[in-house]
Amino acid sequence: MLALFRKTPILGALLAQVVALPVVAAVTGPLSTSVERVPLIGIALLLQGLIAAGITGALGLARWWLLIAFLFPLALGSAMLLGNLPAWPFGIAFLLLALVFSNTTRGRVPLYLTNPETASVLKDLMRDRKAARMLDLGCGLGGVVRALDGEGRQARGVENAPAVYLAARLLSAVNGKGKIRRGDLWRTDVSGEDLVYAFLSPAPMAGLWQKLSAEMKPGSLFVSNSFPVPDVDPDEIWELSDARKTRLFLYPIGKAEAG
Ligand SMILES: C[S@@+](CC[C@H](N)C(=O)[O-])C[C@H]1O[C@@H](n2cnc3c(N)ncnc32)[C@H](O)[C@@H]1O
Repeated sequence: MLALFRKTPILGALLAQVVALPVVAAVTGPLSTSVERVPLIGIALLLQGLIAAGITGALGLARWWLLIAFLFPLALGSAMLLGNLPAWPFGIAFLLLALVFSNTTRGRVPLYLTNPETASVLKDLMRDRKAARMLDLGCGLGGVVRALDGEGRQARGVENAPAVYLAARLLSAVNGKGKIRRGDLWRTDVSGEDLVYAFLSPAPMAGLWQKLSAEMKPGSLFVSNSFPVPDVDPDEIWELSDARKTRLFLYPIGKAEAG
């Protein structure tokens, strides 16, 4: 059970708030006759935050979830008390942030996107290699997939953050380019791809190389944006002339064995 909460921290964070609620009600209920309304709400929110943070910590979630658990009821309550603002936009904002970033703590891969210059270089690379199929592992909003799909090329992406996946899927449906699938990159079949692209973080690179070097077909190519595979020499490193001086690390598959 604890493993589930560590894997999907948002569930643990929600559970902590839900469990804290009746405790806070039980403690503050009897005070309602003796304490004024506004200070009582303040005490309740503070208690809710403290208990929720305690539970979040006991579930083994990362430290910044404790901070969120503590601040969330206070922020929600203050907004309601101060400006007579409706509470639902804060709830929706919380949910959206969770849907976009909930996988960040798990996979240590945040969301940032490949720029159009890099996508254009990747397209030229596919053209030069006459590559017909490509896969973007952790495709974000699917920009690379849509940029590379077409003219005989099939581009696909796999993404596991729910809201990001939905947005990518919608964008690809609207412009009719690329295929986006919801899933875990670690469980994705890469054996049929001519090119696999990833723009992740340093954390997964060693494990990812183990998977790709074992599963991709000989003659195919793995391209990593910005993050090299530790202890493996890339065949080439391309430094692009875009503003962030993007570096692409190219790893041909099966080259060592063939040579
Ligand atoms: C840095 S973004 C890159 C997005 C896109 N490839 C691009 O270059 O524009 C990395 C993406 O990988 C996704 N991701 C992280 N771990 C993943 C996993 N295990 N399976 C699928 N997607 C994952 C994240 O949600 C995020 O959208």
